[in-house]
Amino acid sequence: MQHHPARLIAKKRDGGDLTAAEIQDLVSGVVDGTLGDAQLGAFLMAVCCNGMTATETAALTLAMRDSGRVLEHAQVAKPKIDKHSTGGVGDKVSLLLAPLVAAAGVAVPMVSGRGLGHTGGTIDKLAALPGYRTDLSLERFSQVVEQCGYAMMAPSADLAPADRRMYATRDISGTVESIPLITSSILSKKLAEGIDGLVMDVKCGRAAFMVEEHDAVALMEGLVATGRQAGIKMAALLTDMDHPLGLALGNGLEVAEVLAAIEGECPADLRELTLALGAEMLLLAGVAKDTEAARATLERLWRDGVVRQVFRHNLELQGGDLRVLDDATALGKARVVLPVEAPRSGHVVDVDPLVLGQIVVDLGGGRRQPTDVIDPHVGIVLKHVLGDTVRTGDALAFVHARDAASANAAASRVLAAMPIGEERKKRGPLVRRRLG
Ligand code: URA
Repeated sequence: MQHHPARLIAKKRDGGDLTAAEIQDLVSGVVDGTLGDAQLGAFLMAVCCNGMTATETAALTLAMRDSGRVLEHAQVAKPKIDKHSTGGVGDKVSLLLAPLVAAAGVAVPMVSGRGLGHTGGTIDKLAALPGYRTDLSLERFSQVVEQCGYAMMAPSADLAPADRRMYATRDISGTVESIPLITSSILSKKLAEGIDGLVMDVKCGRAAFMVEEHDAVALMEGLVATGRQAGIKMAALLTDMDHPLGLALGNGLEVAEVLAAIEGECPADLRELTLALGAEMLLLAGVAKDTEAARATLERLWRDGVVRQVFRHNLELQGGDLRVLDDATALGKARVVLPVEAPRSGHVVDVDPLVLGQIVVDLGGGRRQPTDVIDPHVGIVLKHVLGDTVRTGDALAFVHARDAASANAAASRVLAAMPIGEERKKRGPLVRRRLG
């Protein structure tokens, strides 16, 4: 490092603004190790406490992006647009959205992450698809985008490597909840994908990173402003995470829901969010004149089976077992499937996504430790949602588990997460705000 690390850290600690050159120097120190662990922790805490200006956040994002390779996709002539979600429960949108948007003539190079805590991750869901490879080389990733319109891969070590060390340090130093740090972490990886535009799905609610709407709005505005400063087109939707998305929770079960959705059998909220995000992607790509036209195109491609063809082509290119398209049992299944029965008649007055997400993790569908191995077959399939009328003994949900003991333990927790009462409640809007 050219600067004295302690002086830069103290400048941020005392509320000063760092220059782009100083931030660049700190990020070089993150990558080459000349910034020690204690110094990195202190710097992150100083940012967490004192924040960063928009200019500092953009400088940090660009320095983190440039800490590794930045893809160009020279062979891909189409506009390159991606979507990123801040994480939720039951959020399998990417699996459906990428082929749908690719079918409309937009290239989607999607580098996705693993699940974090109770929230699922696209890479874990893809691991439930037999044979599907997400460990592509960057060259192969670009080729797959060129050949079928989209590709999905796990982050490789050479994309935004500074974020790896910074994220791991944030995780153990109480510095995850910082808007400039979240913004630069997400955008540095996305910018390294070589995209022209990004649609952010910023989740808000009980099971989201941002529980309060004002925090989610601040994150949404920060992401959009920083992305634009970094030179890409940005749009964002603020969407509900006070309820799970769709009916299936757990990696293989979510893939099965996506396979059915591709054939047209899709829960209303999953369909709505997929179309809303897809329309924003088409607008950013400049291939639709307005939201209505974009939605109409996507609905037609979905209805006419074009999305299925693109999904199939991608499956072929990334090594997935094509049998899953005609027979979802090729995904395999859990040993025990247990119904959770309504203890009384009435209406479903709550469906708590945080508790349900935690149950899925405890069933083995998520990680408690970074090294935990996920069971792709376990999870929960909801049979009812908020406001539904049920009678005593109706199945509220099915628990998919490895054994009877974990199924029984999960079932009683599902029951508590889905209370029955008199009031007929309605879910609030799925898309709460839009920043286009
Ligand atoms: N996702 C990321 O990649 N980074 C964060 O900081 C938060 C969510």
